[in-house]
Amino acid sequence: MSFLWGAATSSYQIEGAFADDGRGPSIWDTFSRTPGKVVNGETGDVACDHYHRYLDDAQLMAGLGLQAYRFSISWPRIVPEPGVVNRKGLDFYDRLVDALLAREILPWPTLYHWDLPQHLEDAGGWPARDTAYRFAEYAGIVHEALRDRVSHWTTLNEPWCSALLGYANGEHAPGREEPSAAVAAVHHLLLGHGLAVPLLSGNIGITLNMSHVTAATEAPEDVDAARRIDGIQNRLFVDPVLRGAYPADVMADLAGLSDFSHVHDGDLEIISRPVDFLGVNYYSPALVAAGEPVPQGSTPWIGAESAHWVDGGRERTSMGWEIDESGLHDLLVRLRKDYPAVDLYITENGAAFADVVSSDGAVHDPDRIDYLRRHLNACADAIRDGVPLKGYFAWSLLDNFEWAHGYGRRFGIVHVDFDTQKRTPKDSALWYAARIRKGDL
Ligand code: FCB
Repeated sequence: MSFLWGAATSSYQIEGAFADDGRGPSIWDTFSRTPGKVVNGETGDVACDHYHRYLDDAQLMAGLGLQAYRFSISWPRIVPEPGVVNRKGLDFYDRLVDALLAREILPWPTLYHWDLPQHLEDAGGWPARDTAYRFAEYAGIVHEALRDRVSHWTTLNEPWCSALLGYANGEHAPGREEPSAAVAAVHHLLLGHGLAVPLLSGNIGITLNMSHVTAATEAPEDVDAARRIDGIQNRLFVDPVLRGAYPADVMADLAGLSDFSHVHDGDLEIISRPVDFLGVNYYSPALVAAGEPVPQGSTPWIGAESAHWVDGGRERTSMGWEIDESGLHDLLVRLRKDYPAVDLYITENGAAFADVVSSDGAVHDPDRIDYLRRHLNACADAIRDGVPLKGYFAWSLLDNFEWAHGYGRRFGIVHVDFDTQKRTPKDSALWYAARIRKGDL
């Protein structure tokens, strides 16, 4: 059995070059410049300067033996202003794709990893239905430019984050605290996905961030809290895409926020157009109990305001996320059992730790090696249990701009010195390279 080994990044987190070659502003440019939104007021203005260093980075990937590279396309580079297509923006991805193919690395672009052009937010953002149509238009433009060399397309990365962190509690750009608008944003993201599907060719999929949710006790209120979190985190997204329907219980949970009149006849048929793969991003499980409700606007977990996370007593990464690879295994098995058959890829999995360059010039990150090893073993177990898992992308190739956390959370298998832009493969990168050379999972 062949298994695809890769690593992932996203445009705003690594490219920098925020004003080069006609790029327009995105919601993350605006948000990161808003005082108090990102730790230390950091921005993606320079990030890993990948826009200028992509050739070296492609060479670095080749050195590690990566077979695939999951990156995202910056919409504001391609459509910097309403109705304008920026050829120079497309040219960058043209060069990047060529650099990857020359090194026998499969390019795996994601069309939207959170950097909405600011002009589209000004016109209403994802709560506005028109944004879905603008997304499809943009998807068609990128496809036209790269279709001769790109065979794998992901429409969206983690619409949960775009909609709920972006519009429900405002932790991410555009920073709106409007839970009702967030429900519409969910739908318009999914609609944009479905509208884009027939405009793309090859292998087409969507990436969702999913968690394995369990109740802390068997008490009915804890079981209900877990049902609600599972609903808003997982089923609100995967059900419409793979089954063509919103889950009735989640619609009931959200009834106080939305009457779902933004769902038009035929939308769910569009959203559930067949896809070739589902990308799963997995980091951490959720152990949930019921407690005092938190105010609306303060949580992305809309419809689950009484749910609280319970300490599972496991080790944590520097994000504070508990490490539990059994959650990944169980999630994959559930997807196989509960949903129509579709190829699965882990499109992100990884861990942030406080890495430093040692006096020997290396970055010793045994915690990350342990994390990756455990999660890859969970993938192998899932495959033995019949899960059609076809590949794995480590998050991330490079240390990068970790959204509201800025540069202080290092997820890379390659260390980046943000003063000098020097790249140093960490021990985990060398370990991962050896694992790839070994072959199958
Ligand atoms: C995911 C995002 C990715 C990165 C990782 C840590 O939610 O897709 O950009 O921030 O988390």
